[in-house]
Amino acid sequence: MSYSSVIAIDGPSGSGKSTVAKSLATELGILYIDTGAMFRALGYMANERGIDLTDESAVESFLSSIKLEYQSSKDSLISIDGEDLSGKIREHHVSKLASIISQIPCVRTYLLEFQRNLANSKVCVMEGRDIGTVVFPSAFCKFFVTASIEVRAQRRFDQLVEKGQGDVDLEQLRKDVKKRDDKDMGREVAPLKCADDAELVDTSEMELDSVISYLKNKVSNRASEIGISL
Ligand code: DC
Repeated sequence: MSYSSVIAIDGPSGSGKSTVAKSLATELGILYIDTGAMFRALGYMANERGIDLTDESAVESFLSSIKLEYQSSKDSLISIDGEDLSGKIREHHVSKLASIISQIPCVRTYLLEFQRNLANSKVCVMEGRDIGTVVFPSAFCKFFVTASIEVRAQRRFDQLVEKGQGDVDLEQLRKDVKKRDDKDMGREVAPLKCADDAELVDTSEMELDSVISYLKNKVSNRASEIGISL
């Protein structure tokens, strides 16, 4: 079996996977690829340009007309047609647009190719929902990072309080988390699921620092076992 040199990290939102994936890449000194940022950028820009997301052929011509770039410079995580979207994609309303656009088959096909080209035999950490199952089924290391719905809602609540936006209802957040899970897991194309050969890491009862050192250890062992140099 030949492996691709990608470390695939999948899981639902709020599981801590972004923090874990980013820190793991930094610790190993390798590229970090955030695929959620790509869906966010497409959702944001399609909305800005008034594209009807229920019309797949309109979405297809939008995709063929744009230039999407990931980390084209040190300061820009993601841009479309030269416009840096790194900050804008984190705005609250963009989560919903990203979720809607991520259900459209031609969007998934477009990003599948984009993500494969980007990783193109580089050693990297790629984070998303379908990396270990669809994008890089041959990834040499696969993790599915998750946490209970209650813990994920609480983490989101704490984040909002930290930002001074604490006037939200925890129970409502719990419902939102559940709704997003159902959508991500229930879509027809590339649904969120743990690959058969991925290791499930439940962070509900773990500090993120311990998760990172656990994964780092696993990756190093696996890399030396199959001869990938980090
Ligand atoms: O991880 P995130 O919250 O930035 O992801 C934004 C949206 O994109 C979310 O609704 C799930 C979707 N997504 C996806 O369908 N496949 C991926 N590989 C990454 C994200």
